[in-house]
Amino acid sequence: YARLLFRYLILSLPLSFSQCLLLSPTPRSLRVLSVLQDSRTLSAWRMSGKQNRNLLKASEFSGLAVLHQSRRDQVLESCRAHSESSRKRRVLTPDDLKHLVVDEDHQLLYCYVPKVACTNWKRVMMVLTGRGNDPMEIPSNEAHLSANLKTLNQYSIADINHRLKHYLKFLFVREPFERLVSAYRNKFTLKYNSSFHKRFGTRIVRRYRKNATADALLSGADVQFREFAEYLADPLTARDGPLNEHWQTVYQLCHPCHIHYDLVGKYETLEEDAGFLLRLAGVGDGVRFPTYAKSTRTTDAMAAAFFGNISTAQQAHIYRLYRQDFLLFNYSQPAYLRLE
Ligand SMILES: *[C@@H]1O[C@H](CO)[C@@H](O)[C@H](O)[C@H]1NC(C)=O
Ligand SMILES: *[C@@H]1O[C@H](CO)[C@@H](O)[C@H](O)[C@H]1NC(C)=O
Ligand SMILES: *[C@@H]1O[C@H](CO)[C@@H](O)[C@H](O)[C@H]1NC(C)=O
Ligand SMILES: *[C@@H]1O[C@H](CO)[C@@H](O)[C@H](O)[C@H]1NC(C)=O
Repeated sequence: YARLLFRYLILSLPLSFSQCLLLSPTPRSLRVLSVLQDSRTLSAWRMSGKQNRNLLKASEFSGLAVLHQSRRDQVLESCRAHSESSRKRRVLTPDDLKHLVVDEDHQLLYCYVPKVACTNWKRVMMVLTGRGNDPMEIPSNEAHLSANLKTLNQYSIADINHRLKHYLKFLFVREPFERLVSAYRNKFTLKYNSSFHKRFGTRIVRRYRKNATADALLSGADVQFREFAEYLADPLTARDGPLNEHWQTVYQLCHPCHIHYDLVGKYETLEEDAGFLLRLAGVGDGVRFPTYAKSTRTTDAMAAAFFGNISTAQQAHIYRLYRQDFLLFNYSQPAYLRLE
């Protein structure tokens, strides 16, 4: 027990104790996972709690527990390195918690990251909180209606802290450039919804296209990846305010250096990680994560093709913008990237 306790204390040390109002020092599943690695206590844990119906085999569990421990360690280490190299100190405010969806019934907090299966996760969160039975019966536009899900910023400070401390917190991440190219393709190359063309496309064409036609200036419907990259790299863009959530970094959306997520799921292993999370949450077979139609999925090869079309200076600039996400979640620098 001494060994376990020691490990637990190390894990739960809040990194940014001094600069953080909202702390999450004792994540539930960290405790659960540490305990589960000790086979002596496993059977005791089996006897208690609603999770016992849906327990994984001990061997399966300990393998996954080790994997998820190493992902959390990776986040912690790169946060440490980052805080040593940057002087910036920052306190979280409720407004920073807009992306954390709350499920009180199962005590879950899910930080949604657009372009990482977030529509399906929102559908699942709706079902978990009693809105329907089958995630796939919920139309995608309903999953994105803010009235259908509660987010953490809507609570009082005391209630926020209570939830950060006791709920199981998770997020799903993806290779940063696949996510970025996926956002570009989805928002600028598809015709079905022109709201991004109007909001961002017109501005991008106006700023970065010489001799733009009147039609392009008005519709903003044919933004090239090169122009989108120019927009991202332009210091003016940062001055305009936070990036749109579809291309904002996970670091900025979910604050993983302040909020100690219990589970970091990956798009690359979506089904496994989703299944593990749902069982950890005690949901079991009641709700299944929808399996994906992958035909239009953005791949590494597609990302390579788009990046091959922009200058090395732009590639370097965009890599700098997303570097923190690469490090936090252990994605290696893409082989196609040319930095000079
Ligand atoms: C990081 O990724 C490398 C290579 O992809 C892998 O060998 C290593 O185990 C990963 N580390 C963690 C902490 O996930
Ligand atoms: C288009 O996208 C915007 C922003 O994502 C959304 O608010 C709007 O409801 C969408 N419109 C349609 C018709 O899907
Ligand atoms: C823009 O138009 C001017 C005049 O028609 C022309 O000289 C110039 O080459 C054009 N620039 C580009 C980038 O097409
Ligand atoms: C590359 O850029 C050219 C023009 O700049 C454009 O016509 C082409 O569609 C681009 N290809 C990709 C994959 O973005």
